[in-house]
Amino acid sequence: MKKLVIYGSKKLKGELTVQGSKNASLPILIATILTKGENILKRCPNLNDTINTCKILTILGCKTKRQENSLIVDTTNLYGNEISKHLMSTMRSSIIFLGALLARCKEAIVYLPGGCDIGTRPINFHISALKQMGIQVKKTGEKLHCKVKGEKIKGANIFLSFPSVGTTENIILAAVTAEGTTNIFNAAIEPEIEDLCNYLKKCGAKIKVTKNNKNSISIEGVEKLNPCTYKIMPDRIVAATIFSAVAATKGEVLLKSIKPIHLNHTLKILNEMGCLIKTYDDDNIFLKIKKPLKAVKEIKTMPHPGFPTDLQPIIMALSCFAKGTTIFIETIFENRFRHVPELEKFGAIIKVKNRICVTKGIANLHSANVCATDLRGGAALIVAAMGAHGISKICNLPYIDRGYEKIEEQFFKLGANIFRK
Ligand code: UD1
Repeated sequence: MKKLVIYGSKKLKGELTVQGSKNASLPILIATILTKGENILKRCPNLNDTINTCKILTILGCKTKRQENSLIVDTTNLYGNEISKHLMSTMRSSIIFLGALLARCKEAIVYLPGGCDIGTRPINFHISALKQMGIQVKKTGEKLHCKVKGEKIKGANIFLSFPSVGTTENIILAAVTAEGTTNIFNAAIEPEIEDLCNYLKKCGAKIKVTKNNKNSISIEGVEKLNPCTYKIMPDRIVAATIFSAVAATKGEVLLKSIKPIHLNHTLKILNEMGCLIKTYDDDNIFLKIKKPLKAVKEIKTMPHPGFPTDLQPIIMALSCFAKGTTIFIETIFENRFRHVPELEKFGAIIKVKNRICVTKGIANLHSANVCATDLRGGAALIVAAMGAHGISKICNLPYIDRGYEKIEEQFFKLGANIFRK
């Protein structure tokens, strides 16, 4: 199995265009099922997860074609409504097919989804919401057989006890062509969800997102949706990964095609740690190390607009180079510190207790041979290896490839000595 070989401590410098967002492209690819015809999704990243989503779409009878940065999905002849256990296990997002298939076919057979092992990741919110919309759910072992009771899915008022991203997406997909209006209270409002809503609105859906202390999404069911051409949002997690790696090498970078508003919280943290940040023309961000990195006191993961859990491992890797102590509190997933023992192999000083993790930064980490434990944990190891002295090797690359498009080529453009071999 191939490894990433990184010659660390090389100052990264240059400019890059950020790839399209994985977490936005997956639900949008799935949402194409709600239309009948050819959708063109621009800036759709070429990743293991988008490839697996296309495999499922193909098995259901859709045609998918990659044309450079775009994915063309023709959903005219969708005939299937069952997804195999194997394909469901390839990623967590496969569960979002449920809402879309039920809306189009009125019946769906799926299995429990896979995804990174960062916690128990149940699907009880999804099932409960679909039941409230008049869907019958029969669970036999890992198999879920779901049917719409009556002619159409019924709009409903759904209160989420936690603003789950996947559940909010599933409800939206089930609701856009349902009978009546669906209101999701305490909805997740991550930028990727807004991107899904924007795609659906372009197809003819009626959706209103209200952001206040009780975020809600209101969806008025429409008769049908039309296919469209849509440009997927840039990936804020990839952008923050590049910024962190550049900061770890005391370098500078101009990232193009990235929305500062999507990175609000993260840019504040990077600035507090000693990075100079300038934004240009609404979608370019420049970052440069202004002074030696220093720790921020506390970073607590929260649903959007709070600090994203996906960036916790990545900023943690950067904090290992920052003077002082940083406390990380992980409130979203109970098993999201699996990267810690790997970071320790670089000489990082980290203590973990339950959902709290404390790092004590040191000026120099040394090289290490490490293994990615999950997608973002793997990205954290790249940040550590970039800043560390010596040659590091990272294995288990399929995890990293789930979310980062040709990662070595991106860093190579910034002057990194990084190879896959
Ligand atoms: C999505 C993102 C993932 C991100 C996460 C939180 C995608 C493809 N993945 O994952 O990168 O880390 O949001 O921002 O977009 N929960 C339940 N029952 C459920 C559903 C969720 O208890 O039925 C819990 C989960 O165990 C977790 C929390 O709710 O503790 C948040 O999960 P959720 O927001 O649903 O995350 P995902 O949609 O899986």
